[in-house]
Amino acid sequence: MTDSDFSGSGLPAPLTDPVSVTWQSPSNIAFVKYWGKTGRQLPVNPSLSMTLSKAYTETKLTAFPHKEEGAAELEFWFEGKQNEAFGERTGRFLQSVSDIFPWLGQVKLKLETHNTFPHSAGIASSASAFSALALCLCSLDAELCGILLDEMEFRFKASYVARLGSGSACRSLFPGLTVWGRTRSLPGSTDLLAIPVTEVHPVFKSLRDTILIVNNKEKAVSSTEGHNRMINHPFAEARIKQAEKNTSGLLEALKNGDKDTFIQIVENEALTLHALMMTANKGFMLMYPETVRIISRIQELRKETGLEICFTLDAGPNIHLIYFEDQIEQVNKLIVEDLLKNNKQSARIDDHYGLGPVKLG
Ligand code: PMV
Repeated sequence: MTDSDFSGSGLPAPLTDPVSVTWQSPSNIAFVKYWGKTGRQLPVNPSLSMTLSKAYTETKLTAFPHKEEGAAELEFWFEGKQNEAFGERTGRFLQSVSDIFPWLGQVKLKLETHNTFPHSAGIASSASAFSALALCLCSLDAELCGILLDEMEFRFKASYVARLGSGSACRSLFPGLTVWGRTRSLPGSTDLLAIPVTEVHPVFKSLRDTILIVNNKEKAVSSTEGHNRMINHPFAEARIKQAEKNTSGLLEALKNGDKDTFIQIVENEALTLHALMMTANKGFMLMYPETVRIISRIQELRKETGLEICFTLDAGPNIHLIYFEDQIEQVNKLIVEDLLKNNKQSARIDDHYGLGPVKLG
């Protein structure tokens, strides 16, 4: 597979009437973290994530006839209001994919989008937003230019396009567990797009993720800047080896239903991500004291209760508490009576293993 497999064509005939498509696409949480990129949004190491279910973006994209050809023209509506900042980022993205969708310069676009979860709540909104937009672009491509792809080819193309908007977004296109980035341990894996993990023990289909919100302010250092700080990082080489080893170990654990190894790797990856931030040449810290308190408590509670709970972290202070469906009641009690008991915000979002994007129209 190469970039040229995805280049497209212009409109076969000028558009006469508006054409709309709508997709709902979820966010995802990485168990092996993508941290550091190169080239045209390519990862320096493989990553493995779980597609979520309730945290999703719904996007409607409408193409209108446009008299003059030129740069893509876009009107951006976020949660019912026009949003210039998001419009500008999306405009730059559309410009960057004009080789894949040359018809973008021949139409006017209106994008209407909303999320089911609050912005900056520790859920990667760029993953759901760019995967939903990529799906809409691929659907419009099919309708406007008659591009016919089977279901998997369509998802792979959308994953390729989503990656160019936000790396982690390329993993949201499939149900359940997904790998992005070439790894020896998964045939067919590639840096260009994500592929689904098919050998998954049923126990891992009951995974749950409750996000414990410590702080929902805008992050001091963005993911884009964080990726940049992996360039010439003193531990870059060791990190790439470790991610390969953790991906391989996790794939094996997922296949065999090995929960202990799963827990060990997931926590190792979360702590490594934040250790890489702290040890970068311009080091920074996104964890709060409350983050450290809660993750330490999760480890203690695992020992004390024997419950199969663990944590992961994204590039932010909020904690993803990972557990299994059959322990939902006991874990809920721990969240209310212990983990969030003295937390001023006391906010949480309950999510779980998801089934992937849905076309709404
Ligand atoms: O997709 P980006 O550029 O927002 O980077 C996301 C990076 C992490 O969320 C920290 C890890 C990951 O693999 O999702």
